[in-house]
Amino acid sequence: MKLLITGGAGFIGSAVIRHVINDTDDQVVNVDKLTYAGNLESLQSVADNPRYAFEQLDVCDQPALADVFKRHQPDAVMHLAAESHVDRSIDGPAAFIETNIVGTYTLLEVARQYWQGLNSVRQAAFRLHHISTDEVYGDLDGPEGLFTEQTPYAPSSPYSASKASSDHLVRAWSRTYGLPAIVTNCSNNYGPYHFPEKLIPLVILNALEGKPLPVYGKGEQIRDWLYVEDHARALYRVVTQGAPGETYNIGGHNEKRNIDVVHTLCALLDELAPSAHSPYHSLITYVPDRPGHDLRYAIDASKIERELDWTPAETFESGIRKTVEWYLQNLEWCRRVQDGSYQRERLGVGSAELYVK
Ligand SMILES: NC(=O)c1ccc[n+]([C@@H]2O[C@H](COP(=O)([O-])OP(=O)(O)OC[C@H]3O[C@@H](n4cnc5c(N)ncnc54)[C@H](O)[C@@H]3O)[C@@H](O)[C@H]2O)c1
Repeated sequence: MKLLITGGAGFIGSAVIRHVINDTDDQVVNVDKLTYAGNLESLQSVADNPRYAFEQLDVCDQPALADVFKRHQPDAVMHLAAESHVDRSIDGPAAFIETNIVGTYTLLEVARQYWQGLNSVRQAAFRLHHISTDEVYGDLDGPEGLFTEQTPYAPSSPYSASKASSDHLVRAWSRTYGLPAIVTNCSNNYGPYHFPEKLIPLVILNALEGKPLPVYGKGEQIRDWLYVEDHARALYRVVTQGAPGETYNIGGHNEKRNIDVVHTLCALLDELAPSAHSPYHSLITYVPDRPGHDLRYAIDASKIERELDWTPAETFESGIRKTVEWYLQNLEWCRRVQDGSYQRERLGVGSAELYVK
């Protein structure tokens, strides 16, 4: 099978590509614009594999995208390209509207025209898998209740509203045109190659440098954490075995308050990387809460467990330890993100600015 994967140079997309190249015989075409979040250094281990190809382009660029479909003739599409950072969406929503909504629309139209031109056997086997977030469901009031595939959409941030919009477009293309599309909505991911503006890598790297560990509000927001490689395995299961027209929630059964995640990271760093800055929890600094911050997300992932026989391999305890160990062993990857060299060498000029408020 040949998979066309958009956003493959990002955090989750690169995990999917490493999984497909290392653990299957399938081929991958990675379509990525390489925004600040795209990092080809996350794909170094597979870049020379003859089953891997890279195309740098914007998913909003309809003619370029159509040309990639024509040249590569994919059997399925996994759509991960997106603007993904909530804080950035609050300060500058335009890019989120453009990539997440217009980009998904453009991909749907290109994929539909391509799919309609396939022979009947390939047409029946074709899949468009749209990767989305549990944030489309809004938040849960108290400690009870879980998001199911039937939970009504109630997004809170420009990011989640743009993802909700793209989910609706995908379902409309499935229902109206019969495009064999599948949507997955997943909880917070963590693990290797996570861009250091997100909570877990930010805390690890700030702690090692003796910098404050910023925690929004009182840190009482609850997120359901999933190890990124478990997500990658779930996505591959869905694109190969999921039913067209269906939605699957994906989650890790790991509900944690942000403050508890930060304390866990500090304890692991005290054990694995003691320094003049430890105990690291002394660096925790409470900062004003994010506007509109959702309190609790929690996923009911029983449908994908039941219908596609997927369960996460990692517990939070095993996954978070692996993650801290990975960062400690890959400080060079982090340094090149933090000082912008991963982009500077690619672009020849400028540098990437980390967006940490
Ligand atoms: N990170 C999470 O916890 C999480 C959880 C659930 C769902 N998701 C969803 O999974 C997907 C991937 O998330 P991620 O964390 O890997 O994101 P990311 O920000 O790390 O990566 C996004 C990738 O998309 C590329 N991209 C951005 N705009 C593009 C465009 N216009 N054309 C082509 N490529 C473009 C970037 O260069 C980057 O490589 C997103 O759709 C996100 O909504 C993420």
